[in-house]
Amino acid sequence: MPRPGVPQIETDPAILRQHVLDAAAAGRRVGFVPTMGALHAGHLSLVKAAADCDDVVVSIFVNPTQFGPGEDFERYPRSLQADCELLADVGVRWVFAPPVEAIYPAGDATRITVDGPSRRWEGEHRPGHFQGVATVVGKLFMMVPAAAAYFGAKDWQQTVVVRRMVRDLAIPIEIVVCPTMREPDGLAMSSRNVYLSADERQRAVSLSAGLTEARRVWQGGANVATAERALREPLTHHAVQVDYAVLVDPTTLEPLPAQASGVPAIALVAGRVGSTRLIDNLLLS
Ligand code: PAF
Repeated sequence: MPRPGVPQIETDPAILRQHVLDAAAAGRRVGFVPTMGALHAGHLSLVKAAADCDDVVVSIFVNPTQFGPGEDFERYPRSLQADCELLADVGVRWVFAPPVEAIYPAGDATRITVDGPSRRWEGEHRPGHFQGVATVVGKLFMMVPAAAAYFGAKDWQQTVVVRRMVRDLAIPIEIVVCPTMREPDGLAMSSRNVYLSADERQRAVSLSAGLTEARRVWQGGANVATAERALREPLTHHAVQVDYAVLVDPTTLEPLPAQASGVPAIALVAGRVGSTRLIDNLLLS
């Protein structure tokens, strides 16, 4: 069982790695929750899932390489102290908070590119994003040689990319995907929700409203074209600038034929509410 109390903060990858190796050598299963901080109930649900393990590591690192030019890297919320307070007494043994040079040493020249599932959707709208994610997650998996790593389903495409990388590189870690945590009105929890004004916060509910409506019509037998129309309707109504609102195969992320119905499907949506870009998704079947 994970121990209650205040987690130990480690900034040095070599020391953290040794802690994890020692725990594993003592027969302890170590669970790992990679985050960029600004923790909320969604992250805490991952920590709770990881509490199946004997020891839990949470990393907090705002990864520069997954932000494109003009994105919110500089203003991304950073709150290490508040994050550590949230992680007290929830069974986290180590918080790994490396400085940027520990992850990207001077002269760093190595990147991990996962082709295939990175290509579409977020990959198209945020070029280089998944290369940054795969690179940092690959590095973190080497620094934190845990038995299992926990990711939120809200970043569905990220989970597909990470799973593919782990398979292709034969990284010995189990990937556990946990359900999206939502506010009472349906908005998916995200560190970026703090950017929303009161008006934008209300309009942002249209993402989950569209997803729920798409699932309702899909489960009633509608085809892809009809379900995609249902998905878009609340977004248009609330003036969300849509990047994509589509039904795709949950495993390959390839688009589904317009006339298909009753096949495995996930609805993916991304759009801008004011200047804040949000993503969400819902498994339909
Ligand atoms: O999902 C996130 O918070 C990030 O993309 C991750 C996995 C921690 C990599 O920086």
